[in-house]
Amino acid sequence: MKGTILITGGAGFIGSHVVRLFVTKYSGYRIVNLDALTYAGNLENLKDIADLPNYIFVKGDITDEKFIPELFNQYKFDGVIHLAAESHVDRSITDPLAFIRTNVFGTCNLLNAAKNAWKDNFEGKRFYHVSTDEVYGALEFDGTYFTENTKYDPHSPYSASKASSDHFVRAYLDTYGLPVVISNCSNNYGANHFPEKLIPLAINNIKNKKPIPVYGKGENVRDWLWVNDHARAIDTIFHNGKTGQTYNIGGNNEWKNIDLIYKLCEIMDRKLGRAQGESAQLITFVKDRAGHDLRYAIDSSKLQSELGWKPSLQFEEGLEKTVDWYLSNQEWLDNVTSGQYQKYYEVQYTER
Ligand code: NAD
Ligand code: TYD
Repeated sequence: MKGTILITGGAGFIGSHVVRLFVTKYSGYRIVNLDALTYAGNLENLKDIADLPNYIFVKGDITDEKFIPELFNQYKFDGVIHLAAESHVDRSITDPLAFIRTNVFGTCNLLNAAKNAWKDNFEGKRFYHVSTDEVYGALEFDGTYFTENTKYDPHSPYSASKASSDHFVRAYLDTYGLPVVISNCSNNYGANHFPEKLIPLAINNIKNKKPIPVYGKGENVRDWLWVNDHARAIDTIFHNGKTGQTYNIGGNNEWKNIDLIYKLCEIMDRKLGRAQGESAQLITFVKDRAGHDLRYAIDSSKLQSELGWKPSLQFEEGLEKTVDWYLSNQEWLDNVTSGQYQKYYEVQYTER
């Protein structure tokens, strides 16, 4: 594999796993990680690969109309893997415009830069847009799944902004012939997950004996996938997916929030030497999220049968690994919860 690949949002949770996979697996690629280092971006996630010769970090904002075309001009990208986004549903409820700015306008700005830089000669080029299953809306408890043909029906400002970006990606294919590919993935979990999302938040609170906030009655269902398996799926789709196609990615692993929290409490009681049942006493039912989607569940059979991907890890094993990671990376957790990680930026990044 040869060429220069732009990965956006590579300092975030999923992006950092994708960057690491590409930089270490494909030494012939030059990987440019573009990230604005918002509260969710953390260069500590990538300190193990920061000095590798095929890795370049650039601090910059995907919404910057002057800078993004300059970046394409400077690096002559052969491909783009676009992950940069505002990603937290609760934040989208309090600050929807930030989501429209980054997820919609930022994506369009990248699409436009790619189209102009590649000058309509798209041979060998690929624009891969990483999206979410939340664009499909919510399922009932009826055994149905989201497929690639499920009608879009987003409910939160986050999912609406991602749905909008997906539409623009397809519009650039239909209108200009830009060679795009899209994937829509279910909820991820694993190392380096920012502790505002359910699993790392619960791990952190259990550890510190703080209340574990469960929205509503904890009846909502999510389909959890190990982040490294998502990164592997992105690798597979980027290299073997068909232009213009969409691929759903999921773990076939549905959990009610409350059952998941009980499971985590049980694992952590064991690992922390607490009496079984002790951490579960921290569970606190709180006011439900506005517009809270009931159930997500992905049918990933297209990706499995056409491209041969499948999840590598059982959920229980993945949760154990994740808890172990958080327990042995106390400094990472302290840094992100104290805001100290943003100081790390000042000394680590190279200004463009
Ligand atoms: P994250 O919030 O952990 O990371 C997002 C990254 O994007 C951060 O490093 C942040 O600094 C960067 N960023 C934000 N705004 C930017 C801007 N304007 N310019 C440049 N960089 C910017 O998110 P994540 O959970 O890693 O999600 C990555 C992608 O995967 C998103 O597109 C998300 O919609 C999608 N996705 C996430 C999940 C999930 O479970 N987390 C599931 C499916 C799809
Ligand atoms: P989250 O991790 O925010 O992901 P998403 O909203 O994208 O699915 O939330 C996962 C589920 O957990 C969702 O049903 C909301 C719920 N939740 C809680 O019950 N308590 C919390 O503190 C958080 C952050 C989420």
